[in-house]
Amino acid sequence: MKKKIIVTGGAGYIGSHTCVELIASNYEPIIIDNFYNSKHFIIDRIEEITGFRPDILDTNCLNYEQLRLKISSYNNINGIIHFAAYKAVGESTQKPLKYYQNNIGSTINMLKILEDFKFSSFIFSSSCTVYGQPKQLPVTEESPILLAESPYGRTKQICEDVISDYSKANSTLKAVSLRYFNPIGAHPSSLIGELPLGAPNNLVPFITQTAAGIRKELSIFGHDYSTSDGTCIRDYIHVVDLARAHVAALKFSEAKKNGLFEIFNLGSGQGNSVLEVVQAFEEICEEKLNYKFSPRRPGDVVEVYANVEKAKNEMGWETKLSLKDALKDAWNWELALRKNLITNE
Ligand code: UFG
Repeated sequence: MKKKIIVTGGAGYIGSHTCVELIASNYEPIIIDNFYNSKHFIIDRIEEITGFRPDILDTNCLNYEQLRLKISSYNNINGIIHFAAYKAVGESTQKPLKYYQNNIGSTINMLKILEDFKFSSFIFSSSCTVYGQPKQLPVTEESPILLAESPYGRTKQICEDVISDYSKANSTLKAVSLRYFNPIGAHPSSLIGELPLGAPNNLVPFITQTAAGIRKELSIFGHDYSTSDGTCIRDYIHVVDLARAHVAALKFSEAKKNGLFEIFNLGSGQGNSVLEVVQAFEEICEEKLNYKFSPRRPGDVVEVYANVEKAKNEMGWETKLSLKDALKDAWNWELALRKNLITNE
């Protein structure tokens, strides 16, 4: 019998790619999603790619009683991958209570569900934002956690603390926190990908929308940083590699006899500047991108990229896809969206 896994936020960007990889690895995802920042057609697309249609529980993770009721109709659930969260850094500074209530409340509820039904694995969606601007690069999992730049980042730190405290009180919990660096790209089928709500805040969707003529020009935030070309450096990771890491984390937790709480960086291990990303994109779409240099964006760290040795050594996971693969897939996804007149405005 296939192992069932609850995937909160499973219709979202990283969640949907993870469902595809779970199905390919013979798991059966059960998606919990309230479609706040995702679309129902993504479920059809997961089915188109994999030949399997996951069940959907259209429930808010803050609604504990409804979660309990819906989940109680299933047997043989092994664990939870918890993606569902608000993620707009800028909005979180304007509406901090919305972020604290939703992101922390839903994590607590999912841990309570895990306890109620005696599931063992809990995989949490964290972020490299917990490191702030690290003193040493590449950043390892032992690097100090610095004061978060935004309430969004703070919710990730607090949730990790909640899981850590809970793991000390519950010796059967097998928890893994995955600190994502910068996920980009889309599934190579161009059937699923990122659907930014309104104007994108993130670099790659802004680039693809600019190339597609939806945005006039890209603003590169700051070109006087102390980096080789003056623009910020990030560790971009293909979303399919990131999705595969969730399957690796699940298997890692299942293979352990005792309870655990482990943290892993998930990145490519390589830093690329904003200008390098723009140039790599121009090579792929064979056109010049319309961009201008603009003032620095408040809260941006100058440079961050991951040491990914721990994930490689302990979970046997490493990236297989390059920055160019990710940009090509992001561009093909953008073209597919335009062809089908799909927007998320
Ligand atoms: N950038 C631009 N122009 C844009 C958008 C971004 O120049 O229109 C630059 C940013 O200044 C930054 C780089 O591109 O230097 C990457 O920016 P993103 O917004 O794509 O990504 P961030 O690194 O700022 O943020 C991401 C996630 C957050 C997470 C954070 C952790 O979006 O959820 O990484 O560092 F918290």
